[in-house]
Amino acid sequence: MLNVNKLREFNVFEKIFDKCNDGINVVNLKGEIVYVNSVSAEYADMAPEDMIGHFISDFYPDAVLLNVLQDRNIILDKKIHYVANKRYVVSSYPIYIQNRFVGAFSVFRDIQEMDELNSKIKYLELQINLNTTEDDLNSVIGNEGSLEDVLVKARKSIGSLGGPRHSIIIGESGTGKTMLANLIYSYGKEIGVLNKDAPFIEVNCAQFTNSDIAAMEIFGSEEGAYTGAKKRKGLLERANGGVLFLDEAHALEEYQTLLLKAVESGKFQRLGGAREISVDVIIIAASTRNLQEELLPELYQRLAQYELYLPSFDERSDDEKEHLFNYFVNRYEEAVKRSHNIKYKAEFSKEAKEWLFMYKYPRNIRQFRDFINYSIDQASPLISDIGNKKEITVKIELKHLPFDVTHVDEEVINENMQNSNYITDDIGDTIIELSNSGLGPRRIANRLQEMGHDIKYYQVAYYLQKCNN
Ligand SMILES: Nc1ncnc2c1ncn2[C@@H]1O[C@H](COP(=O)(O)OP(=O)(O)OP(=O)(O)O)[C@@H](O)[C@H]1O
Ligand SMILES: [Mg+2]
Repeated sequence: MLNVNKLREFNVFEKIFDKCNDGINVVNLKGEIVYVNSVSAEYADMAPEDMIGHFISDFYPDAVLLNVLQDRNIILDKKIHYVANKRYVVSSYPIYIQNRFVGAFSVFRDIQEMDELNSKIKYLELQINLNTTEDDLNSVIGNEGSLEDVLVKARKSIGSLGGPRHSIIIGESGTGKTMLANLIYSYGKEIGVLNKDAPFIEVNCAQFTNSDIAAMEIFGSEEGAYTGAKKRKGLLERANGGVLFLDEAHALEEYQTLLLKAVESGKFQRLGGAREISVDVIIIAASTRNLQEELLPELYQRLAQYELYLPSFDERSDDEKEHLFNYFVNRYEEAVKRSHNIKYKAEFSKEAKEWLFMYKYPRNIRQFRDFINYSIDQASPLISDIGNKKEITVKIELKHLPFDVTHVDEEVINENMQNSNYITDDIGDTIIELSNSGLGPRRIANRLQEMGHDIKYYQVAYYLQKCNN
């Protein structure tokens, strides 16, 4: 009959220990190994028999077992970074036989994979933190500047006494249209115009390959509306009681008339259905184009009860750009703090910052934000190199900026050159001199202006770029 004594007698426990996934070490009072299972031996790249009788510190220099031998206290789940890429957590216990302290044992587990997964999760968490937007109208940068009027209108669009109204948001790509639509929705909930669980349904009108599919997505369908059609709620119905955000609304095309009818009457039918469905939806339509030219006049008139125009990055004042810059750098630092619990400081060199501000951003604030994040990424250490540091300062230099920023487009320069003066050898020498003294292109251009040379900053930038190549 198999019983525990039999297992002991025939050393079956050792065989079981060999098959488990954790490493096990047992040492005597001198720290000599008396037992090691095969997982631990493999970890040390040895055979178990070659380890027995040797000091544990020969194979595991920082073994926590040594501490247990000294003070006899249990150590639980101590995370250890052992040689290079081997990482494990270890728990260690004193061994008593008949009340006499005789040694210690430890059980450890490889956490390499877990650690890597953890890093990935932290990375994703960081990206999410970096990309989420404010949900409070007051925190939007430009609240008291370039966006002051538009935010007043945005509040009115949903919060005026006459009831919430549809609106349109116009702005180039990356100027904050989606952000503003979300802010209007949040504000609607905050002031009680919308219920706390009111839906916000976003649809990109340009994503549909043809207008039949678009119509089906927006209005839904009844079974048999066409071959294989299923009974399905459309986005309009799902947005009932909340907001339907029609992004890239210039692509609405043929189903504009259906939408117009729904907007006018608050009623519509699913495709292939006869039943009238009533909805109460606030529509926010956004576009990079002039919707007045793109939509049916009646539909435009219905939707554009409030027209909200978002300025491009270029139209923002220097102060606001600076504000945005600090805001995004801060967000990065805070995101690192949240995901890694590290006090993180990102410092841009004067030159790097100057170049970053000089670039024209065709994709506006989003691109500005992405370039800032990219540059900090480039200057930052890898997660695996951080170790136990609790405070890190990274310096962002010119070399960390995205290629586009530091490489001035030759064609643009040539175009601009026609209207401005050429850089003579003398001026060139002055540029180099000023650059060596630590000035960036904008300041150098200012100095040259003071000296009576009408040289633009991009000419200086381009000249320096050529000299550096
Ligand atoms: N005033 C602002 N204050 C703070 N952040 C802003 C501001 N405007 C835009 N952003 C940032 O820029 C990002 C891009 O904005 P958003 O996605 O709303 O632009 P969009 O106009 O919808 O672009 P697209 O046309 O490509 O859809 C936002 O995630 C937000 O982080
Ligand atoms: Mg958008």
